[in-house]
Amino acid sequence: MKILVLHGPNLNLLGTREPGVYGKLTLTEINSAVTSLADELGVEVETFQSNSEGCLIDKIHSAAGSFDGILINPAAYTHTSVAIRDALAAVALPTVEVHLSNIHSREEFRAKSFVAPIALGQISGFGLESYLLGLRAVFNHIKKGL
Ligand code: DQA
Repeated sequence: MKILVLHGPNLNLLGTREPGVYGKLTLTEINSAVTSLADELGVEVETFQSNSEGCLIDKIHSAAGSFDGILINPAAYTHTSVAIRDALAAVALPTVEVHLSNIHSREEFRAKSFVAPIALGQISGFGLESYLLGLRAVFNHIKKGL
């Protein structure tokens, strides 16, 4: 089983970016915790971050046929990108959306997700744990279907 882990814009700055909101862990530390859990579960993960909507879309397209599921933190594109939602819908891989912060307890514009309606579900507000719960969720979903 192979799961693609995608991080959207500005998440490369984790560690120093608004630590009161997003925590002190760097993206490298998050990726290594995700990879450790993947090892434990016996699933292969590839992690990818981009600040560009087009690069994220190209990566989603390339997942068709080579990955079994997607774990994505679309970051600000969550609230703006019909194109990322359409790419995820097009490849039709089981997808879980995650957020470090609770997007429902912040500014009103963050409560809207274009991705959530086409995802299996959304996990928001648990910091690193959002990613780990999200990985387990997509893993368990795929396993059930095998
Ligand atoms: C985020 C929440 C988004 O609203 C924000 O634009 C981000 C990060 C999160 O993980 O909490 O960049 O996706």
